[in-house]
Amino acid sequence: MSGDSCASAGGQLLNHAKARRTRSVDVGQQHVHAEARSVLRAVAALGCVLVAACTDATPETGSGSVVDSATPADVRTAQWGLGRAPSAAEIAAVDIDVGPGGDALPAGRGSVAEGAPLYAAQCAGCHGAKGEGLAKFPPLIGRDPKGEDFGFGKDPALVRTIGNYWPYAYTLFDYIRKSMPHGGAGRLSDSETYAVTAWLLAQNQVIADTTTLDAASLRAVKMPAEKRFVPDNRKGGPEVR
Ligand code: HEC
Repeated sequence: MSGDSCASAGGQLLNHAKARRTRSVDVGQQHVHAEARSVLRAVAALGCVLVAACTDATPETGSGSVVDSATPADVRTAQWGLGRAPSAAEIAAVDIDVGPGGDALPAGRGSVAEGAPLYAAQCAGCHGAKGEGLAKFPPLIGRDPKGEDFGFGKDPALVRTIGNYWPYAYTLFDYIRKSMPHGGAGRLSDSETYAVTAWLLAQNQVIADTTTLDAASLRAVKMPAEKRFVPDNRKGGPEVR
């Protein structure tokens, strides 16, 4: 078994791990975390097979870190007759996280005006024509003045929205691209995702109605709640600063 084949299967695992790291900084996206957890469980289940069979590329360090090891591509195929190595194109198709700071945002651009009909067609059925939320589907628009002082901890009835709670605008793009419309993720092109993101940010009074967003301009958007968050710099202890 070659180191190359090890690296290739490792790519798939690392891809899951990378996606998980990005998702872990998203705020309040429970189902995404649940999805990431199930991916990790699958990775952990595979890990013992892959690591065991990849000793040429991964000497026995005892690190126990499955996802960070170079692991073989065709172990399952060769040993169990299952699966195959993913192609570079297949990995690229799911390697869509925007990176910390939005540094891996894709090409494309979309305006607030282009986002309006997209929202109406793809999103309003669940989130309401004005983003007010319907039944169990969360509101996306609203700057409840009572929420502007970030009193969510004291008053659980205050509604958290993109406008008063989300710290980073590129996270919104990332979330929509990966998971919305619910059940139809991937239906929107990157430019359409920029447009819907722009429309939602404009409705939340974060950007002007005339804005067109692309990677650079989305990275530059400052969210009202950003100052309410600090980078998580814990080193494994329970302390929160
Ligand atoms: C079939 C129903 C459905 C459709 C259509 C839909 N969503 Fe959602 N959306 C949901 C559900 C359910 C959640 C809550 C997911 C969760 O918290 O686990 C959600 C959550 C969200 C959130 C996160 C809200 C927050 O602050 O936590 C955003 C942003 C969002 N949707 C954007 C969109 C956009 C943009 C579209 C259209 C492209 C869209 N949704 C279409 C059902 C839908």
